[in-house]
Amino acid sequence: MKRKLGVNIDHIATIRNARGEGYPDVLQGAIMAIKSGADAITIHLREDRRHIKENDVILLKKKLKRPINLEMAMTSKMIRFAKKIKPQYVCIVPEKREELTTEGGLNLKHNQIFLKKGINQLKKLGIKISLFINPAIEDVKIAKKLNADNIELHTGTFCNQLKLKNKKKINSEFLKLKKSAIYASKLSLGVHCGHGLNYQSTKLIKKIKQISEYNIGHFIISESIFFGLDKVIKKFIRILK
Ligand code: PXP
Repeated sequence: MKRKLGVNIDHIATIRNARGEGYPDVLQGAIMAIKSGADAITIHLREDRRHIKENDVILLKKKLKRPINLEMAMTSKMIRFAKKIKPQYVCIVPEKREELTTEGGLNLKHNQIFLKKGINQLKKLGIKISLFINPAIEDVKIAKKLNADNIELHTGTFCNQLKLKNKKKINSEFLKLKKSAIYASKLSLGVHCGHGLNYQSTKLIKKIKQISEYNIGHFIISESIFFGLDKVIKKFIRILK
């Protein structure tokens, strides 16, 4: 199975918005990422529009030859927007205004009726749905019940433990990811992952054979400041081989 790389370009927009100028250009970044080998372009249209804006999504969908993976909260407004744009993939994420980034997976237990309704509406348009979840068997089961096509496992806790060099916790977080991926794969769910990934964590998570797609943003854009987008993406592609 080929491991795919989704390049999250939100932070190109973060830099652009910091000065209110038209650069760095998000579309140019996406085109470069694709030329360098990205399989998909991932963007998160947040409620506060702190990075990607509606017009970015519209333009990227129109111009790009590779799939767009739109990360969004499951709100009525966002469902309406996604129905209009029809990205190839939607990844449903939880969203809190005050958070710096998506801090955890969805709370699937408490939102099932609304989630299922939204998922089915988007699936009717041919959009493949992924749910961003914590690595837990119970959440994988619910994702299947909700009719998702894919799950995206939140790798943030694993990556944090790697930074802390806490061997015991690194192993236990790795096991959670592995068990969830194996279980999801048995249920015929596609398994993606993302959040906080860098070269080191990607090399380790790659050992989980069931994971077919990696969505990576902050580290790629940060490294690109020093080494360029092309080099960084190509390095990830080599790691994922
Ligand atoms: N996957 C999802 C669902 C996310 O919300 C994010 C952060 O926007 C990412 C992947 C990428 O995380 P990072 O920017 O830490 O690589």
